Amino acid sequence: MRGTPGVPVLVVRDLAVFYGDVQALWPVSLEVREGEILAIIGPNGAGKTTILNTVAGLIRPAGGTVRLDGAALDGQPAHEIRRRGVVLVPEEHQVFPQMSVIDNLLMGAYASWSREGWEQRMEQGFALFPRLHERRRQMAGSLSGGEQRMLALARALIGRPRLLLLDEPSLGLAPRLVDALFEVLARLRGWDLTCLIVEQNAVQALHLADRACVLEAGRIVHEGAAASMLTDPEVARFYLGVARVEQGRTAPGGFETQVGFEDESKRRIQDLPS
Ligand SMILES: Nc1ncnc2c1ncn2[C@@H]1O[C@H](COP(=O)(O)OP(=O)(O)OP(=O)(O)O)[C@@H](O)[C@H]1O
Ligand SMILES: [Mg+2]
Repeated sequence: MRGTPGVPVLVVRDLAVFYGDVQALWPVSLEVREGEILAIIGPNGAGKTTILNTVAGLIRPAGGTVRLDGAALDGQPAHEIRRRGVVLVPEEHQVFPQMSVIDNLLMGAYASWSREGWEQRMEQGFALFPRLHERRRQMAGSLSGGEQRMLALARALIGRPRLLLLDEPSLGLAPRLVDALFEVLARLRGWDLTCLIVEQNAVQALHLADRACVLEAGRIVHEGAAASMLTDPEVARFYLGVARVEQGRTAPGGFETQVGFEDESKRRIQDLPS
């Protein structure tokens, strides 16, 4: 641990965001503590990406505060927030397509707030994603969509972020790749990471995270320990698609959940090498 467990790294208070006249975030407050993974789950259009983009300085909030290790981030330009160690892996446009895999990774190290030990982190990144090592001289734009997502994640990690913001890392991946991605994310515990992850694969996100918030129409409607959310009947019914799985009908939350998925993902994560 770089700091004390439980100490807040990111503190968001009363964040309000508008797009024109439309309010996307009603005052939203959350904290991400040292060494933890906080998941934000919620239906399409809930405002999940808006939270990440606002923390990263890509959107200027109408109100509220964002602090990293006690220092104000709100009002700072995106490059300054990045320099302080907040690294966003967005939903799309994640890699430099005209650069090789290895040069993309070097960019991650170069842009890092802490360049110390980057060679070792590069090796750790390749160990995590052997496919990237095989393709290290290939142009990033010629990688498959899934491989580009892996590269974006590896590049972010090599930058040794103080706070990693992951926006739907599993979006558009084939089920097998989603599984592989969550296995990699579970292994990141060893990377001393503080992470805010937004995911529509709610069950897997809750298995991965320490704590979670459910966001709906720009408001946090549930929050708590991720493990207890998995067993909370209301969360399960409305946000995990359990109603559809158990009763063969659509759950109001609109999440995609496969039959048997939860048990399968639980088993997989338990089976992971430590
Ligand atoms: N640039 C924009 N201009 C206007 N409205 C926007 C803009 N970006 C987002 N919105 C609106 O703000 C709301 C929140 O969007 P946001 O992208 O944060 O949702 P999300 O929870 O990430 O959704 P998804 O799960 O589909 O990615 C939506 O109603 C969306 O239509
Ligand atoms: Mg989004």
